Amino acid sequence: MHLSGPLSGKWTATSLGLLSILSTVISPAAAVKEHDFKKCNQSGFCSRNRAYADHALAASSWTSPYTILPESGAFKDGQYQATILKTINDNGDTVRLPLTISFLESGTARVTVDEEKRQKGEIKLRHNSKARKERYNEAEQWVVVGGLELDKKAKVDSKDKTQFTVKYGPTSNFEAVVKFSPFSIDFRRDGASQIKFNDQGLLNVEHWRAKVEKAPEPEPEKKEGDEENKEGEQKDEEKKEEPQGPDESTFWEETFGGNTDSKPRGPESVGLDISFVGFEHVYGIPSHASSLSLKQTRGGEGNYEEPYRLYNADVFEYILDSPMTLYGSIPFLQAHRKGSSVGVFWLNAAETWVDVTKAKDSKNPLALGIGAKTSTHTHWMSESGLLDVFVFLGPTPKDLTTKYAELTGTTAMPQEFAIGYHQCRWNYVSDDDVKDVDRKMDKFKMPYDVIWLDIEYTDDKKYFTWDAHTFKDPIGMGEQLASHGRQLVTIIDPHIKNVENYPVVAELKSKDLAVKNKEGNIFEGWCWPGSSHWIDAFNPKAREWWATLFKYTAFKGTMENTWTWNDMNEPSVFNGPEVTMPKDNLHDGNWEHRDVHNLNGMTFHNATFHALKSRKPGELRRPFVLTRAFFAGSQRVGAMWTGDNTAEWGHLQASIPMLLSQGISGFPFSGADVGGFFGNPDKDLLTRWYQAGIFYPFLRAHAHIDARRREPYLMGEPYNTIIAGALRLRYSLLPSWYTAFHQAHVDGTPIIKPMFYTHPSEEGGLAIDDQLFVGNTGLLAKPITEQGKESADIWIPDNEVYYDYFTYNTVPTSKGKTVTVDAPLHKIPLLMRGGHIFARRDRPRRSSTLMKWDDYTLVVTVGRDGKHAEGDLYVDDGDSYDFEKGQYINRKFVFDGSAKSIVSTDLEGRDTKSIKEGDWLKKMKGVSVDKIIVVGAPSGLFAGKKEVKVESEGKTWTAFVEYNAPEGGRAAFAVIRNVAAPVGADWKIDLS
Ligand SMILES: *[C@@H]1O[C@H](CO)[C@@H](O)[C@H](O)[C@H]1NC(C)=O
Ligand SMILES: *[C@@H]1O[C@H](CO)[C@@H](O)[C@H](O)[C@H]1NC(C)=O
Repeated sequence: MHLSGPLSGKWTATSLGLLSILSTVISPAAAVKEHDFKKCNQSGFCSRNRAYADHALAASSWTSPYTILPESGAFKDGQYQATILKTINDNGDTVRLPLTISFLESGTARVTVDEEKRQKGEIKLRHNSKARKERYNEAEQWVVVGGLELDKKAKVDSKDKTQFTVKYGPTSNFEAVVKFSPFSIDFRRDGASQIKFNDQGLLNVEHWRAKVEKAPEPEPEKKEGDEENKEGEQKDEEKKEEPQGPDESTFWEETFGGNTDSKPRGPESVGLDISFVGFEHVYGIPSHASSLSLKQTRGGEGNYEEPYRLYNADVFEYILDSPMTLYGSIPFLQAHRKGSSVGVFWLNAAETWVDVTKAKDSKNPLALGIGAKTSTHTHWMSESGLLDVFVFLGPTPKDLTTKYAELTGTTAMPQEFAIGYHQCRWNYVSDDDVKDVDRKMDKFKMPYDVIWLDIEYTDDKKYFTWDAHTFKDPIGMGEQLASHGRQLVTIIDPHIKNVENYPVVAELKSKDLAVKNKEGNIFEGWCWPGSSHWIDAFNPKAREWWATLFKYTAFKGTMENTWTWNDMNEPSVFNGPEVTMPKDNLHDGNWEHRDVHNLNGMTFHNATFHALKSRKPGELRRPFVLTRAFFAGSQRVGAMWTGDNTAEWGHLQASIPMLLSQGISGFPFSGADVGGFFGNPDKDLLTRWYQAGIFYPFLRAHAHIDARRREPYLMGEPYNTIIAGALRLRYSLLPSWYTAFHQAHVDGTPIIKPMFYTHPSEEGGLAIDDQLFVGNTGLLAKPITEQGKESADIWIPDNEVYYDYFTYNTVPTSKGKTVTVDAPLHKIPLLMRGGHIFARRDRPRRSSTLMKWDDYTLVVTVGRDGKHAEGDLYVDDGDSYDFEKGQYINRKFVFDGSAKSIVSTDLEGRDTKSIKEGDWLKKMKGVSVDKIIVVGAPSGLFAGKKEVKVESEGKTWTAFVEYNAPEGGRAAFAVIRNVAAPVGADWKIDLS
C-alpha cells in the first residue's frame, strides 16, 4: 500500500509525527502525480537515445558507427566471438566492444555486447566512489536458471567479406545473418526474416570516458580536412547528417525533483533497435496499465508520447492507459501474427525504456503500398549494464513461453490454499477483528482461505513484532483460523525501522547487511516506520540472517499457518528520487543501485521465500510469499499483484489485460486487488469485481485504511448471495485451477490465456484482451467490467460448439463472430468450449483445505463432432515437495463417442501401481470421481439408458445415468452418478 489521501484520524501519534515530516516530501494527493515520475525527456540517457534515434531516422542515409572487426571473429562450439569497433569521433578513434553471439540448444540465440575494461586509472570515478568499474554483468546470475547449453550443431553456413550466416535451431531452420559493417543481425526462420537488430542503426553503447572539465565553448566548426578521408560522393549528405554531439548536460550529474544523482561512471547506456518484420502486434514487457497488444509510443492519434518504461516504482493510484512504469518489470517482448510468434528477452536490470512504432514496409516502390505488410520497430534503452538479448524464433506462442521458462524458470507449485480466496484490508485492527471476520465469512457461507494483516499489526512498524495492545494473542488467532484449515499472512517489508532497542535493526547494522549510500555508509531513508535502513538481499550473508528472523522461535506469535507478504520492495523510499533509492547507492559487491534496481524486489522476495523454507528444521513445505516488485524470474518464488489500484470501473477493466500480460510473460501467478485499493466501490462494482476476480490466478480483496469496511458479507442482499455464488464457483473449480498451475509449473504455460495464445491463427483475436480461457478447461470467461452493463459480447475464436456454463444452452455462433450473452448482475458470462473435460469439487466448504478429501465431478463438454472430449487433472498434497518424488495424481480423461467410452489413464503413461505410496497417495485411494456431467450428450449413447458399467483395477460395477433431451436452446446432457471410480486409478466407463 502507499500513503495517500487526507490524513485520517486513524494514525497513531508516532506515525503522525512521521507524517508531518513526510508532508514535505509527499503530497497527500488524490492520484498519482505524473510529474513525480520522469518522462523520457527528463531522464538523460532516454532523451539522448531518443535524440539519437530521431537523428538516425531523419537522415536519408544514416550509417551506424558500429563495425565488427572481421579478423577478430571466431566461431566455435555454437558461439561466435568478435570485437565490435565503435567509431567515436571524426578522427576515427574507436572503442572496443566484445561481442558474443551464442546459439543455444533450445533454439534460442543470445547476443551480448560488453565494453573492454579500461586500464587502471584510465577512467576516473568521481567522489572517490566505491562503485565498480566494469559494466554490470551479474543479471544472469539472478535471473537465468537453465537453458544456456550451447548448440554444438549450429554452424556457419556461408561467409563472405561482408557477412556470414549461421544455421541453428532444432531443425536447423533458423538462421542468423550477421553483417560486419555496419553491424547488424537478421534472424530468419525458414528463410524469412523475423527479427532484425540494428536495422535502423540505433545501436548505441555509450562508452566510458574520462570527465573533461571544460569551459563551455561555441559549437566546434567542422574542418574541411575531416571530409577528405571519406568517400567522395555522399560528402554533402554526410556533412548534413553528422550527428550533433549528444546532449552532455546530464553526463555526470542529473537532478530530478530536487534529488541529484552523482553519476560516478558518467554516461553508460545501451540502446538498440529491434524490428519485428511483418508483425503488427507485439505484447509483453509488463507491468503497465495498458492494452495487451502494445501501443505505439512516438505520438500520433491514439498513441502514447512516451516509451513504455520499466523502472520498478511505488506508483500509487496509477493512471490507466499509460506506458508509465509500475511496480515490477519483465523485459520480455513477443510479436505475433498468423503463422509466426517470435520474441526477445532484454536481460538488463537497470532503468529501461522501450519505444514502439509500426510502419508499412514500402521499400519496393512498385508495390505502391499494396500488400505492404506492417512491421513493428522497437527501440530499447537501458541506463547501464551489458547489452544482452535473447532471441526466440517460435514459431508458436507456446514455444515462446516454454523457451523463456527454460531460461528464467517456471511458477513455483503453490500452496493449494493460495489459489483460494484471500481476505485483506489495511487493516484488521486486532486479533478479535480477525476472528470476527473469520466467523462472519462462515456465517454468510462465503468460502475463504487466508486473512491478511497489513502494517498495523506490528509494534510501531517494527517487523517481526506484534502490537501488544491490539494483537494480544496471535497464536490463539492462528489456532482459530487453523481449525477450519485457514491461514494468516502478515506483511514484512524490506525497510527496517531505525530506532533504539530494536534488535532487528541493531543486527542489521552490526552485521553490516544493509544497502549503503554513495559514500559507503549505511543508507538511511524514510518509509512507513520513519527513518529506516534497507536490507541488501543481494548479499548472501543478509539472506542467511533474514532467514533466522522468520523461525517460529524468533518471530513469536507465528505458526505453521502464517505466511508472508513483501510490499514496498521496489524499494519504496518516501523521500527518495521517484519514491525509490538513489541510483548511486551501493549494494553487495559495490554495484550501484542503478545497475540492479529492477532486480531489487526479486532478491528480497526470494530471500523471504528461502526464509520461510527454513522456519523449522525438517519442515519441508512450499512457502507462500506475495510480492509487489518483481523481475524476470520472480515467478520461481511466489505470487504478485498489480499494486495500489482504485475502486473504479476502469481499474476493474484494466486488470484483465494486465493479468493476461503477466501470464504470457512468464509470471502468471498474479492478481489485482478485488474492489480496488483506494476508494469505496459501490455494490455493483464490488460484485462485478468478485465475478471478475474469480478468474484471477491470485484472488485477493484488499482495501485502503481510509476505505469503508467492505468484507463481502457486508453488502446485503442480493449482493451477498451473488458474491458467495461467485466465490463458490471459484472453489468448485479449484481442481482445474490447480491443474493449470501445474501446467505453468511444468513448462511456463499461462494460467489464464488470451485469444492469440490459444488461437494463434485467428487474426480477429490478436488484439482482444477482455476475455480469457482458463488453463486447458475450455472455459471462456468474459467478465463484466462496465457499469450497468447486463450483457457480454464474446468473440468466438473457432467453429467448436460453445455451451453456457450455467444453463447448458448452446450458444448460436461461429468462428470470428461475436455472440451476445445475457449477464444481469447475478450472472457471470462464462462459456464452455466443446471438446474438453474438466474437474470440479462441488461440495461447498469453508476453505480449500477442508476440500482435500472430497470426491470429484467431471464435466465433459462434447465437441461439435459429437464424438470427442478430453482433459486432465493434476492433484498432489498441495503443501509439501513430495510431488517431486512421484507423490501426485496426473490423469488424462478421454470421452470417445466412437469407442463408446470415458477413460481415465495416467497422463504421463506412468505405471502408477509401481509408485511407492506415501500417506497422501494412500489416503487418496478413498477419493473418487463420483459424478460425470456430459454436456452435449449424444442421444445415441445416452437416450433411454439407465445405467452404465464402470471398470477399474479388475473390478466392475454399475453407475446410474439420467439423460435429459435437448429442450429450447439447451443442449442434451447426461448425469452419471455413483461412479465411485478412484481418482488415482485407471478406469473406464462403458457407454455401449
Ligand atoms: C518532455 O515531454 C513532454 C511530453 O511527453 C512535453 O510535454 C514536454 O514539453 C517535454 N519537455 C521538454 C523539456 O522537452
Ligand atoms: C535466492 O536465494 C538463494 C538462497 O540464498 C540464492 O542461492 C539465490 O541466488 C537467490 N536468487 C535470487 C534471484 O535472489
